[in-house]
Amino acid sequence: MRLNKYIASAGVCSRRKADELIVNGNVKINGAVVKELGYDVKEGETVSVNGRRIEASAPKVYIALNKPEGYITSMNDEMDRATVAQLVADIPERLFPVGRLDYNTSGLLLMTNDGDLTYTLTHPKHEVYKTYVAKVKGIMSDARIGKLRRGVDIGGFVTSPAKVRVVRQMKTYAVVEIKIHEGKNRQVRKMFAAVGSRVIELKRTAIGDIRLGRLMEGHYRKLTGEEINYLKGL
Ligand code: URA
Repeated sequence: MRLNKYIASAGVCSRRKADELIVNGNVKINGAVVKELGYDVKEGETVSVNGRRIEASAPKVYIALNKPEGYITSMNDEMDRATVAQLVADIPERLFPVGRLDYNTSGLLLMTNDGDLTYTLTHPKHEVYKTYVAKVKGIMSDARIGKLRRGVDIGGFVTSPAKVRVVRQMKTYAVVEIKIHEGKNRQVRKMFAAVGSRVIELKRTAIGDIRLGRLMEGHYRKLTGEEINYLKGL
């Protein structure tokens, strides 16, 4: 098995991240550093990452977490902020987030130790629609909605057409549902900013067909077999 795949299937990280570890000399085969990306792991060889022996077949865990605001999507933080790792600390397997949500964004975050699935889901070619509900200051006019639907320039990048609908228009704010399949940094906030609107609150409610549902903030649930198969089939 190719070395990056081996590392990913041991639940250490995604395949892409594994390539970095290999190039940086963090990976040893039978005690010797291997920096060759295409290295093929043979039967009986031992693989270690950062001095820790790994096995390719760790049990796979897939969860949906409702990330609250004020947590970073990372397993540790140099600035000692709260991380999503703390919310899944009772799960013995080492999980990592599939993609990311901003510190100030809440909602659905998938976490797994299945590096192959992470790779698939975070690859741009897979175009999985993600649904967000944004509380936006002011009036969400038809003109603004039209622009968001067609695509807007968020600073050197023009977004693909989005699915947008106003859930509720109040006097001073609107609640807007927006579905996009790209994952540029702070994309939803930037898209609204590009049409002159400011996001006050942002929550992700679905990734493809996987829904947040009634999961409470800070809580997680295991994905069902059906959900896992759906994600693997994307
Ligand atoms: N878009 C954002 O602006 N923030 C997120 O966390 C996700 C998408």
